Amino acid sequence: MNPDVESILISQEELGRIITRLASEIERDYSAPDKRLVLVSILKGSVIFAGALMTALKIPAEIEFMRVSSYGAGTVSSGNTKILLDFHRPDLPLLDLLIVENIIDSGRTLSNLTRLLLGRGARSVKSCTLLDKPARREVPFEPDYIGAVIPDRFVVGFGLDYDEKYRNLPYVGVLKPEIYNSNPKRPPMSFMKGNPAKR
Ligand code: IMP
Ligand code: MG
Repeated sequence: MNPDVESILISQEELGRIITRLASEIERDYSAPDKRLVLVSILKGSVIFAGALMTALKIPAEIEFMRVSSYGAGTVSSGNTKILLDFHRPDLPLLDLLIVENIIDSGRTLSNLTRLLLGRGARSVKSCTLLDKPARREVPFEPDYIGAVIPDRFVVGFGLDYDEKYRNLPYVGVLKPEIYNSNPKRPPMSFMKGNPAKR
């Protein structure tokens, strides 16, 4: 185990089982012949999860990428989701988009992106998150597919970072608080108030 990690919350084996279960739920809902499933992976955090989920799917699936930055709670900018990287599909009205996120926290990112993509005219927009922290929700939002509900702890691994590190850990672990407490200039993004933060 990485020495900066306090405990493993979801092991590599458990992640495998979660992804297999999510893939079969998605297959069940998207296997109709008129469906055109397109995963929309939110960079950078969801890239590992989106890749694993995509290879677990036994139905046709395409992939697109978006990168966004968001603002913490309690500021005038709350609710803003700035698009840093976008995708353009002229056939959007024919596409069934599935936004793939690694964690839902305040709910702002998924709620804003869902509204944006529906507004652009996608045929359908659903969302799938590997992890859900319902204790931190600030806007009411329920993802359609949830890998695991977790407590309000700052976690890293399987795509989730602190200060761009730990994304490559093959499990999800709780980061030792002294790692971010000893670096006051770089609080974990979910604890940031008012600073734009990139995923
Ligand atoms: P929200 O639901 O709009 O607040 O956005 C969730 C985003 O916050 C995720 O995409 C992550 O980038 C970040 N985040 C929230 N909780 C954690 C965590 O425990 N570890 C790492 N990143 C987190
Ligand atoms: Mg991050």
